[in-house]
Amino acid sequence: MSRSPLRPDEIARLAPAEGPARGLPRSAFTSPEFFRHECERLFPRHWVFVGHAHDVPEPGDVMPVTVAGFPLIVLRNRDGAVRTFHNTCRHRGRKLVDSACRKRTALTCPYHGWSYDLDGTLRTTPHFGGYRNPSVAGFDKEAFGLVPVRTACWHDWIVVNLDGTAACFREAVAPIEKRVRDWDFRAEGWDLTSLRHIGTIDFGTVRGNWKIVVENYIEPYHVPFVHTQSCGGQPLDTHFAISEGLLVGSAVSIKGSRAAVSKEEQEAASTRKQLDSSALYLVLFPNFALGFYGDLVISILTAPLAADLTHERFDLYVWGYVDPGPEAIESWMDLNRRINAEDIRMIEGMQEGLASPVMDSGAVMSPHWEHCIQQFEKLVAEGIA
Ligand code: FES
Ligand SMILES: [Fe+2]
Repeated sequence: MSRSPLRPDEIARLAPAEGPARGLPRSAFTSPEFFRHECERLFPRHWVFVGHAHDVPEPGDVMPVTVAGFPLIVLRNRDGAVRTFHNTCRHRGRKLVDSACRKRTALTCPYHGWSYDLDGTLRTTPHFGGYRNPSVAGFDKEAFGLVPVRTACWHDWIVVNLDGTAACFREAVAPIEKRVRDWDFRAEGWDLTSLRHIGTIDFGTVRGNWKIVVENYIEPYHVPFVHTQSCGGQPLDTHFAISEGLLVGSAVSIKGSRAAVSKEEQEAASTRKQLDSSALYLVLFPNFALGFYGDLVISILTAPLAADLTHERFDLYVWGYVDPGPEAIESWMDLNRRINAEDIRMIEGMQEGLASPVMDSGAVMSPHWEHCIQQFEKLVAEGIA
């Protein structure tokens, strides 16, 4: 493996002895070489968010995903457990599953018909030893099952750890649980096991590096400039940034705000045309993002595709005590579509701006609003070291 693409001085200025921190060099956001390092070193050692349990609701449901450039299959096995395998046939290596499918009893390679169980066991190898002869002397079928990937399913969210060395996910996610538990604006009924999925907004491929997408989500500095109307109820002075180990993000603390409780309050809160509640925007490094806004919870899937391309998808949930009608749900969906469209314009504009060598020495960070980005970029530098 080649050496780190970051020079010692580029790492040192992420946390300078004095003056504002500088960001990662421009190449971290634009260079395919840097992205390759992230795929080889950073993503494999962390828990990477890849999808939702509701994407594979029943045994035999299968969803191909790409993580760190690796093709993977997420599926639900016969016992109802979510499992992940490398999406690569053990014969000659064709991608085994091309698109999502439902209720399969086996996975059959389209190339030469090798077939695998939902637990990854290789079952059949038709004609492998000659016409109507599946066997070859010395070939041990048991050694050629699908290669599993360490997987955790936490509530509706599926994460994978490619190299198998990350701390157990329950431990890794504990800081998110604690933030939510200790949040001043939590309501009585905030129980993660009660969350109900109410909608998906797929933003498709965003023309920006995955780090720009995450950084935009966690820093609050841009809110009054970019979301003047859509987040008009969240003035800048109610925001603060969060950086705590692998947990980075921000929060909005509006005195007197709380989750709605009565049916009428829920309807009124959910049909407002702007965001005006207290909120938590949390990211467990590198890409597991959850937003808590009173009655609404949103997970954000940021899937890195290339140095300058990222797939982004929102999934909206409500707590068990909330029972929104179709109008309220559409209103939430519409507001979040608008807010994120505003963000995507900034993200894609950032990627275009970074084409200039002016940013070779990296951004300059506000110590007040952007220490969460500083922490995030330090984690990136450590991740590829
Ligand atoms: S590559 Fe899959 S059966 Fe040949
Ligand atoms: Fe934003």
